Amino acid sequence: MKRKVTKAIFPVAGLGTRFLPATKSIPKEIMTLVDRPLIQYAIDEARAAGIKEFIFVTSRGKGALEDYFDHAHELESTLRRAGKDHLLEALRDTNMESGAIAYIRQHKALGLGHAVWCARRLIGQEPFAVILPDDVIAAEKPCLQQMVEAHCETGGNIVAAMEVAADKTSAYGILDIREDMGALVSVKGMVEKPDVKEAPSNLAVIGRYILTPKVLQHLSRVKSGVGGEVQLTDAIAEEITRSNNVYGFRFRGQRFDCGSKAGFLQATVAFGLAREELHDEFIQFLISMTATRKAAE
Ligand code: G1P
Repeated sequence: MKRKVTKAIFPVAGLGTRFLPATKSIPKEIMTLVDRPLIQYAIDEARAAGIKEFIFVTSRGKGALEDYFDHAHELESTLRRAGKDHLLEALRDTNMESGAIAYIRQHKALGLGHAVWCARRLIGQEPFAVILPDDVIAAEKPCLQQMVEAHCETGGNIVAAMEVAADKTSAYGILDIREDMGALVSVKGMVEKPDVKEAPSNLAVIGRYILTPKVLQHLSRVKSGVGGEVQLTDAIAEEITRSNNVYGFRFRGQRFDCGSKAGFLQATVAFGLAREELHDEFIQFLISMTATRKAAE
């Protein structure tokens, strides 16, 4: 019988140097798109996919992230006394069931693969999800839910995938395709951040994974790879050579790279426009900005 995916790892130990100075004192996962921090989007997506246990791999300076999921008793009672029910409602999604969330420290910045490996004892012998909160995906059906459904059919390991421009392969894990079946792609290899000339395809891995515990075993053995870091990609590549049980999954949705400034701004515009209460005023503003820019050129 296939095991359900109920645990997800959120690697949130990164320094977020691309957003300095902001990230000098706030974790990048607390930066907000409209009025919700990046981490809230990731948690919402995990919940929609049936995840019940949320494992955060953190590091020094990430206290704000932990506080965010605590009950804010004072704030809540003040709002309650003032009858501000709609604001209490806004806090609802930040509430976690007791014991549903765990924090593990990655005590050295040794890479994504190492961060995931740090959570191995909390995973045990079940398939698990990994969500990189930098990758925000707008989708009618949340991306991880699409993947969990695909996983019910395939079992094994599934990585979210998306075609990228041929000259951008060096920013991603890239899939070597065995058989292209449309949404699902059977994979015969996976390379982390290859040069354009060496890339086996332009099908890139995006930050959503459903993995088997075997990948954690490989992580304890793989040597550091690209950038001197332990790469999750290398452990998945090892699993491909052993089990042949890894699929790419072309999700339906739009991905924003919120680890970059341009991507973050694009996401802000997209999520701002998607909010009914902001849409009209915001689109008027964008139109007038564009017109002013064009006139100035
Ligand atoms: C990580 C992974 C890479 C993947 C990317 C998706 O890289 O190592 O394989 O394609 O996330 O966002 P990072 O962007 O953290 O360097």
